[in-house]
Amino acid sequence: MLILSIETSCDETSVAILSSKHSVLATTTASSSDLFIKTGGVVPEVAAREQLKYIIPVIEKTCKDANVSIKNIDYFAVTIGPGLIGSLFVGVNAVKTLSAIYNKKVICVNHLLGHIYSVQINKFLGKKINSNKITYPSLALVVSGGHTDLVLVKSPKNIKYLGGTIDDAAGECFDKVARILGLSKYLGGKEVSQLASQYSKSCNIDLPRPLLNKDNFNFSFSGLKTAVLYASKKVDSKELAFCFEEAVIDVLLSKTKKAYSKYKPKQVILCGGVSANTKLRQSFASEFGNKLLVPPIYLCTDNASMIGSYAFEILDKAVDFKDVKANPNLSLTNIS
Ligand code: KG4
Ligand code: ZN
Repeated sequence: MLILSIETSCDETSVAILSSKHSVLATTTASSSDLFIKTGGVVPEVAAREQLKYIIPVIEKTCKDANVSIKNIDYFAVTIGPGLIGSLFVGVNAVKTLSAIYNKKVICVNHLLGHIYSVQINKFLGKKINSNKITYPSLALVVSGGHTDLVLVKSPKNIKYLGGTIDDAAGECFDKVARILGLSKYLGGKEVSQLASQYSKSCNIDLPRPLLNKDNFNFSFSGLKTAVLYASKKVDSKELAFCFEEAVIDVLLSKTKKAYSKYKPKQVILCGGVSANTKLRQSFASEFGNKLLVPPIYLCTDNASMIGSYAFEILDKAVDFKDVKANPNLSLTNIS
């Protein structure tokens, strides 16, 4: 069975063709992120216009690379939210059109569930990369630019929301700190981490760990960001980047450990753009050992492969093209 999936929730135009939930035959991603370095943040209208330019060539290239004729696709899958409305419309309308032309059903995917199921991709472009299988219940921490959510995955269609950020997401905080430290004006998580790795002593800057000892699974990162802003005027930026990264990881790991002891899941899934962070991966790996599932780095940030992988889990929810609607406010709070 073949699924062609599309992801256009932010500034990427990504298309993938999967032959099973574990196997990606081909994928192409075009990004307009370079355009937003100047503006210091994504301009939704500009992102959507770029996606309109890219969507057809990206679909065509993916079919060609997979050696698949589009009429042989069994289902089309698409991210319907959360995300930027204009960007979501590009993917949603492309899929509606394909579905109408080829008379195939559409699987509507929540982007955040896509991140979670990115860990089960075992074969990528013909190469075996893993042998992961999600066993239930699994505890998942989704850490991305827009979300920091802790959920208990009881089955693909039954997700219990445990907590999430009450202000900034962890990735957003990394990005703002990158800007404070003069590293990158847009999506600077990786740069912060690279700067932090140049500091080899222990941290002597006292940064807050918001909500660390609260008896819930919520996160808050805006106070930490402000503390970094004040400290940046006084201390060395390598040490500051190091201490900041340590504080974020400390909070993410402590809350995940707390949820792990309470719910005793079979596995822990770490996913979303921030899960590309080397130190975060290392800390989770040393805590959870072989119970930990993380995607390879190239599947951490937004991509269509993860959307296709989750689509395989909900084939029975496929709908006619006229029932496909973008929903920019989708979350992980009410899935059962
Ligand atoms: O999942 P994603 O691609 O987009 C959203 O759905 O939001 O996540 C993007 C986020 C950005 O905030 C980016 O700075 C962060 O992931 N990120 C990182 C690293 N690589 C990407 N943060 C920390 N360390 C990294 N190595
Ligand atoms: Zn994402």
